[in-house]
This record gives sequence, C-alpha cells and structure tokens, in this order.
Amino acid sequence: MSDIKKIKDDYIKKLNQNLDLNSVNQIKTDLFGKNGLLSNEFKKLGSIASEERKQFAADLNSIKNELQNAILNKIQDIEIKEINLKLQNEKVDVTLPERTFSQGKIHPVSQVIDEISSIFSEIGFNVEEGPDVENEYNNFTALNTPDSHPARDMHDTFYLDNNKEFLLRTHTSPVQIRTMLKDRPPFKIIAPGRTYRSDSDQTHSPMFHQVEGLHIDKDINMGHLKGCLNYFIKEFFEVDKIKMRFRPSHFPFTEPSAEVDIGYEVKDGKIAIGEGDRWLEILGCGMVHPNVLKNVKVNPSKYQGYAFGIGIDRLAMLKYGINDLRAFFECDYRWLNHFGFDPLDVPSSYRGLSR
Ligand code: DAH
Repeated sequence: MSDIKKIKDDYIKKLNQNLDLNSVNQIKTDLFGKNGLLSNEFKKLGSIASEERKQFAADLNSIKNELQNAILNKIQDIEIKEINLKLQNEKVDVTLPERTFSQGKIHPVSQVIDEISSIFSEIGFNVEEGPDVENEYNNFTALNTPDSHPARDMHDTFYLDNNKEFLLRTHTSPVQIRTMLKDRPPFKIIAPGRTYRSDSDQTHSPMFHQVEGLHIDKDINMGHLKGCLNYFIKEFFEVDKIKMRFRPSHFPFTEPSAEVDIGYEVKDGKIAIGEGDRWLEILGCGMVHPNVLKNVKVNPSKYQGYAFGIGIDRLAMLKYGINDLRAFFECDYRWLNHFGFDPLDVPSSYRGLSR
C-alpha cells in the first residue's frame, strides 16, 4: 500500500504544477502506459496472497481513479487556459477604422486591344501571339527585308547580341511568319502585342503596341483589304461613315503597299473622326509580297492576300482623347485612375462575344 500511496502522492503533486499538454500526456504514459507504474502494480495482483489481494485491489483501483480524474481535470484546465489566451490575443477591435481598398482599372491600351480583337473576331479573324524577343530572320529576312535594306535602319532596332541574331521585335509582322510556318493556308489572323524601337518623344515611345492583320486565301484582293479596314475603322470609332484614303507607300513585305489615312475634324477642341477635311495616318498595309509567301512555303501562284499593321497606342489616344503617348507607360496611378476603365463599365459589346 505504501508504494502505491507514494506513487499517488508524487503524481498528484506533479499534476499540481504548471504543466503543458505534452507533460500531462507524459505523466499518463508514466502511470498507465504498457510499463507504467500503476500498470505494473496491477500486474502484481496475481501473485499476491488472496487474503491481501482484495484490499490491495480496492486501494489500487481507488488510486487509479483518483489519478485519472486528476489528469482529466488538468487537461481541461490547460485547454481552458489556451482558449482564454487566444480570446485575449485574437480580440477584434471593432472600433478601428475600416480598411480602404481601391479597385484596379483597365489600362486604355488593354481596353483597346480587347476592342480590336472583338471587332476582328466578328469577321472571322483568329488572334495569334508571338514573343517580344524575336530572331533577325522572322523580324526582317523572312519578311523580304534583306541585310542591306534601308528599312532595317529605319526601324532603330534594339539588338540583343553582337551578332545581331536576336532583337526586340520592331513590329508585329514576324507573327505573320510564325503563323504561316506552323499551319497551312488559308490564314485569317490578327496579332496584337508589344513592339520596340529606339525612339522617344511626345508621339514615340521605345515600347509601343501594334496589331498585325493577315488574310491569305485563294481569291483575296485589295478590295477585301479595303472593305475589311473600312469595317474596322467604323466599328472602332463607332461612326456610320468614314473618310478613308489609300496613299501609295513602300514596305518590303507588301506589293503594292499603302498607308491609310482617315478623315477628321476638330470640333470644340476635340477630334471628330469621319468628318472634315483633315487627314490622319493610322496604318500601313498592302498585298503580301510573293517572296514572303515563298519564304514560308506557301505557293504564291495559288495563294495571295493582304496584311496590315496598325499602331494601337495612336488609336487609343484618338478614341479616348489622350494627348501624350509617354503617359501611357509612366504607371502613374492617378493617370490610370482617370483614363483607365472600370472592369464593370466596359461596353457590353466588347465583353466577350455578346454582340
Ligand atoms: N510592319 C510595318 C511597320 O511597323 C507596318 C505594316 C505595314 C504591317 C504593311 C503590315 C503591312 O502587315 O502589310 O511599320
């Protein structure tokens, strides 16, 4: 008896100390585990003389119960303490001022890219993409721009290596090459994206945006090109009538080539597209040069078509009355707040294909 009484006293004393959950569990194992102190006492029962056994068993059981209760109470105490501590530390101060949050805006360039993609997809163009880092072949050579061609200088190229093998694409036209190399004709695609030239002033930024267009099939002619651009400009500027003129021009990758101007006038200090007798250049275009088709293994006596390249930033400036191109890329939050678009305010006609 004195043995088990001592065990009880020792452990009750222990349990009265300041313990954490792990230490209590350890005590549980010390007492009731496979080789626990009390478990071993229970094992002795069989070898005790029968006259003493009854009393010993009764004492042992009462000590067992006492210790088990003490352990249970201790665990409850610890848990309650933990909860109280949490309540104290994680208290919500309802008197604090609320957090302000600001909703993001869609950048005018992103908005205009969505509008352009939506308009062209209505008439069957797919959207293609190409990388900003291009190789010299796709950007120039395959587009019928040989080494000595002056267009290479005109483009003020950012080369990325001394061999002039890699560069930041100077236009979106290399996406024409990538598209035609990976598929078979017919092709009817647009390719919006970032382009780069070493140039910076109020109307030029070293990084700007273009959208390329390419339509190749068996019977495509300049009439289709004209119809397509006319449709696009009317849809984009949301006007019924547009004045448009094709000026002869030169690009190595098209023959014949043209630049397209649209008519406008200034009304109350604002540009009104489609009226008046002033002209604004907005894009380059032409019939794809047979050499370009040959370079991508398309037979020019079977297939032909048109291509165009439009400056996106210029279109955004015109449509939304923004007059300094550089502000587009300065990331001034106040500017974006003013000129940006609310995600939920975007005209329904430009959200998905809901038209
Ligand atoms: N790549 C030309 C430029 O950046 C624009 C251009 C002109 C694209 C005529 C074309 C095209 O696809 O046919 O100046």
